[in-house]
Amino acid sequence: MSVNVTREFINGLPKAELHVHIEGTLEPDLKLKLAQKNQIDIGQKTIEEVRASYQFDDLASFLAVYYPAMNVLQTEDDFYELAMAYLRRASENNVRHAEIFFDPQAHTSRGISFATVINGLYRATVDARALNVDARLIMCFLRDYSRDSARKTLLESSAFRDKFIGVGLDSDEHNNPPMKFFNQFTQASADGLHVTAHADIDQKDSIEHIRELLEVIGSERIDHGTNVVEDPDLIEFAAKNKIGFTSCPLSNSFVSPEMKGKEVLELLDNGVKVSIHSDDPAYFGGYISDNYYALAKNFNFSQEQVVTLAKNSFETSWISKEQKALYLKEIDDYVNQFNA
Ligand code: HPA
Ligand code: ZN
Repeated sequence: MSVNVTREFINGLPKAELHVHIEGTLEPDLKLKLAQKNQIDIGQKTIEEVRASYQFDDLASFLAVYYPAMNVLQTEDDFYELAMAYLRRASENNVRHAEIFFDPQAHTSRGISFATVINGLYRATVDARALNVDARLIMCFLRDYSRDSARKTLLESSAFRDKFIGVGLDSDEHNNPPMKFFNQFTQASADGLHVTAHADIDQKDSIEHIRELLEVIGSERIDHGTNVVEDPDLIEFAAKNKIGFTSCPLSNSFVSPEMKGKEVLELLDNGVKVSIHSDDPAYFGGYISDNYYALAKNFNFSQEQVVTLAKNSFETSWISKEQKALYLKEIDDYVNQFNA
């Protein structure tokens, strides 16, 4: 790692967070506090016990710990508090712009209304302006739920159309290809919503899923998606069309020994707009600056490469050209001042 890529440099660098699941920011202390308030038995009573329950080595074993924990989220204020806690962390990490995933079906399926979820989260995004963070929401479909459930969720979301800017796709990818939701993506896109989707690392059909997203569905970004390096034609397509790839090193390190650092370097070398994010920071041991630092340190990134990652995050975000230009200038000013 070049001498200029310190923790301090990374933390101060203006960043866009494009891959964070709000439910994945539920820290053990808030989990315990809400469990007590809402009188929900989560099976653990101390922070240490909660942390000890975080044993996973693949996507499925992670999701088996992740979803039950959401039971502690019951009221609009709970969702507000969850999102505010994340946004304070984001502000401390110099996240200037955040596009945040939420999973309505993980809540409506247990009797919490769509309105409760989105109104609490949205109120936090408004209040985050005081923290100098411009925050937006992305509604994700759970890909292991039925197509009909996604259809109903999209229909229900239309009453809240002004509170989120795009749709995504997450949860268990095994045998759940993007094309399962072709109609929902098409409809969302026609409604003016942006489109992204997960292509988790090293899945059974990773390349096929990435191909569907790029060539058929027209996804603007792919979350994770670093397996694209296996297919030169798709790399070329992604570079030419400025597709964003949102890689999450600490999350990757739970399921792959090398956090996909080589793949990130290869994508940078090929001019692909890859960027670095935090996925589920309460579960994977770090927020966005920790993710940048882990990657830069383990793979000896130069300052220029780190700056390119941050610029890519703004360039592939869903903001106006004018806003992008302002953030890119903020990065240049920061780097010049830091190096002076
Ligand atoms: N992949 C799929 N589903 C998820 C993830 C992820 O990285 N994080 C939270 N839900
Ligand atoms: Zn994710």
